[in-house]
This record gives sequence, structure tokens and C-alpha cells, in this order.
Amino acid sequence: MFTRVPTLLQRRLIFVTGKGGVGKSTVATAIGIVAARHGLRTIVAELSAQDSLQRTFDQESEPFQEVELSPGLFTISIDAQHAMEEYLKLRVGPLGHALASSRLFGAFAMATPGMRELLSIGKVWELAQLNRRTRDAAPYDLVVVDAPATGHGVGLLRTPRTFAEIARVGPIAAQAGTIAATIADRSFTGVIAVSTPEEMPVNETIALRDALARDALALDAVIVNARYPSRFDTGEIAAIEAALAAADGSPSRGPLRAALSEHARAATQATQQERLEQEFPGLVVTLPFMFAPAIGLAELEALADALGELLGEPAGEGAR
Ligand SMILES: Nc1ncnc2c1ncn2[C@@H]1O[C@H](COP(=O)(O)OP(=O)(O)OP(=O)(O)O)[C@@H](O)[C@H]1O
Ligand SMILES: [Mg+2]
Repeated sequence: MFTRVPTLLQRRLIFVTGKGGVGKSTVATAIGIVAARHGLRTIVAELSAQDSLQRTFDQESEPFQEVELSPGLFTISIDAQHAMEEYLKLRVGPLGHALASSRLFGAFAMATPGMRELLSIGKVWELAQLNRRTRDAAPYDLVVVDAPATGHGVGLLRTPRTFAEIARVGPIAAQAGTIAATIADRSFTGVIAVSTPEEMPVNETIALRDALARDALALDAVIVNARYPSRFDTGEIAAIEAALAAADGSPSRGPLRAALSEHARAATQATQQERLEQEFPGLVVTLPFMFAPAIGLAELEALADALGELLGEPAGEGAR
């Protein structure tokens, strides 16, 4: 069960996706913390305008601003509207300024299928460039994308390629083609699925792999999040069951029941984890369930400790 994914921190761009609620944002942040500990200038880009990271780190800012949460760790919340305004101002100059403030143009552009995704991923791409287009912007060593849940996440990764194919010529096609090539370059871009060890998320992770494969993309790691500890062996479970049978009406029934149900949950999780390990040999990395009222900074640091041992080292200075 001790998988290592040694080359992950050598990429410049990592997408974190998975079923809704499995811990994508938590894992994306933990990866960001690990990378920053290694001295990588890292930004975690939230794509669904959640702003949750800034709240955890007790920071406030304008939307679409790059905010430093702790030394070397930044965050940005990307939304399509701001991405379009920035794109137009940068690419089309004064005309772009006029277009960006035109509500009709905005409504038209945003109604184009896939345009929102293209603009958002275009901004992610921009963040990952060494020579950034936005004025005075410093480069990042690593961009971790807290991507939308699975279905949308796949769409997001596919969008640039779709635009490049349908537009064929013109600036949008060229730009989309460049972004698609970046995503397809596995030495530059990594894709991680987060799953809890439960049946539905595991099903979705397998479906995600198949959907990515249709676009010649692949998962670089599967992170099993929130794994319960297995606290009791078979003998102990038998003893707890016997005690429960004998504890008629006694207040000890509650804790005994709780122990049995936690054991059952851990057993179900073990089965689902096995499925993942069979489907993704050598790619499964496991993070523990954190027993805390909420995932705050201390829990994120602890998850980063666990991940740090599994993710390997970034490339040396010369290799970048
Ligand atoms: N390892 C863990 N142990 C305990 N709780 C966790 C763990 N990872 C995440 N959580 C909790 O589970 C909930 C969902 O986590 P998170 O917001 O990271 O998921 P998500 O996949 O980003 O969700 P969404 O699809 O809504 O964006 C949060 O309340 C988070 O604090
Ligand atoms: Mg999230």
C-alpha cells in the first residue's frame, strides 16, 4: 500500500479532480503545502470560485487576485468572467477594453459552448508559463488546479483540443492548440484523481480514467482520501459482539455499537481500496481520515506530512 509517485512535483501543472465532496480542495491544498515546503513557488488555483482556501488561511482579497497565503504558497480563484476581461485587455488592447466592458459582447462570448472552460483553463495555462503575459507577474514553479468535479473536470481538460479542432484557423485555434499541447505533455502536466474508499467515488474514478483515455490523457496518481483506521482484529470484534450481546440495557451498548459500525466501515473501505489498487497498480496513494471538527491549518499540515513522503522530490535547480 506504500506507493510513491516520485515525479509528480517535477511537473509545472497538476490538475486535481474527482467526484463532488471527496476532498479535491483539501488534497489540492495539501499538495500546495508540500510543494512550498520544497521551496517551489506554488499557486493553488480554485476553479469553482469557492474562496475556501483564503478563508482557511484567514485571508481576504479581490476575486482573481493572486494572494500569498504563507511563504511561497499562493492562491487564486478563477472565474470565466474575469478571465475574459483579462484576456481581452491583454490581447486586443484598447478594443479589448471596450469589448470587455460591453455587456452584449460578454453575454455573446459566454454563451458560446465551452468558452467559459476555455477562458478558465487559458488563465491556468497563463499562470504556468515562465514568461507570463500579465504585467509584472512573477512565474510559478508549480500550479495546482483545484478542478471541478469529475464530469466537468474532464470537459475542462478536453476543451482546448475541441476548440483547436473546430476553429482550425485564427487566434483562438492557435491559442487553444498551444494549451491542448501543454495538457497532453505529461512531463509538464499531471492529472490526479481523488476518491474516498467508497463504491460510487471509486466507480467515478474508473470512469474518469476511461474518459481521459479517449482523449489520450491518463491519471498520474489516485489519492484515496479519508481512509478510516482498522482498529480491531477478528478476535477483538468477536469479543465486542459477545460483550454487546451480554450488555442488555447497559450504557456500554452505545460505544460497543459504535466500535462495530466503525469496524464495518473500515472493512467496506478496505474492499473499495483493493478495487482501486487493482485498477490502478502503483498509482494509489492513501491519506487518513482526520478526526477533527473541521479541516483547518493543522489538519492540512498533517495531510501534507503524509503526502510529502509519497510525492517524491521536485527536480533539482538545473533540471527546471
Ligand atoms: N482526510 C480527511 N479527513 C476528514 N475530513 C476530510 C478529509 N478530507 C476532506 N475532508 C472534509 O470533507 C469535506 C469535503 O472536502 P473538500 O471540500 O476538500 O472536497 P471537494 O472534493 O473539494 O468538494 P467539492 O466537490 O464540493 O468542491 C470537507 O468538509 C473537508 O473538510
Ligand atoms: Mg472543492
